[in-house]
Amino acid sequence: CCWELPSPINRLDNLMKDHEEPALASAKEKLQLKDIFIAVKTTRKYHRTRLNLLFQTWISQAKGQTFIFTDWDDQELRLRAGDHVINTNCSAVHTRQALCCKMSVEYDKFLESGRKWFCHVDDDNYVNLHNLLHLLSAFSHSQDIYVGRPSLDHPIEAADHVRNDGSTTAKFWFATGGAGFCISRGLALKMSPWASLGSFISTAERIRLPDDCTIGYIIEGLLEVKLLRSPLFHSHLENLQQLRGEAVLKQVTLSYGGPENRRNVVSVGEVFSIQQDPTRFKSVHCLLYPDTGWCPSLTVN
Ligand SMILES: *[C@@H]1O[C@H](CO)[C@@H](O)[C@H](O)[C@H]1NC(C)=O
Repeated sequence: CCWELPSPINRLDNLMKDHEEPALASAKEKLQLKDIFIAVKTTRKYHRTRLNLLFQTWISQAKGQTFIFTDWDDQELRLRAGDHVINTNCSAVHTRQALCCKMSVEYDKFLESGRKWFCHVDDDNYVNLHNLLHLLSAFSHSQDIYVGRPSLDHPIEAADHVRNDGSTTAKFWFATGGAGFCISRGLALKMSPWASLGSFISTAERIRLPDDCTIGYIIEGLLEVKLLRSPLFHSHLENLQQLRGEAVLKQVTLSYGGPENRRNVVSVGEVFSIQQDPTRFKSVHCLLYPDTGWCPSLTVN
């Protein structure tokens, strides 16, 4: 789904706060990073660029939980990430079918992993692992949880082609894939009739919409579980410059503008200059993990 409002919409911080009551969280099992399955969707042409930056930064802190879904057998990548690189065998073209093909493999691998949470991100997202863990710790993985950022200010309406004449329409919210989203295992299991072993692709065909919309369709449209909106997930389609200073470090995901919009990056202090760190991900990483070998030692007065 590629529509998005120019500015962040209805910040439902209050909704999220309700789920962060310490008493509520402590009543549940203590969630650990290893309970989360983080799927990173990428493609051949970004292995050396986008993906390298992620390995250098946040993935270095989450090697055991991160799985790379791509469309090419890359020996160098294989040496780096071993069986955490999955060649989906999907086409490398950026079409609805190819994207849905990858999402379908991500979903199947998650179920197979036995982990408690499925989180999907793109190869231009920085994941703040501590904040992700904190967010998900507020829930139980056996609840029906679908959390992310809605990319529209109204539900999407799509013709349901199940009867081949488009006579029925479905109305639902979805979390934009470019900002990342998470699904609890309990809910993922319920999605199985429409998502597992390739059925995700036929479900996507039924509404003729991309991968992230199809996820929303299955969860909101078919299972009638509501998307939990979080303002803490961010995609490259937003105005990221509005995120500044301390607030940058409080988000769950970040992103950066592509080649056509290089200046759309978060505003974070000068650990590295814009020239040295055009995406700002290295600066963010050094603020979060100052002990990292390649980070400059920050002098504290
Ligand atoms: C992709 O194809 C290879 C070679 O046939 C196979 O070993 C691998 O399991 C396939 N990947 C997926 C995700 O099905």
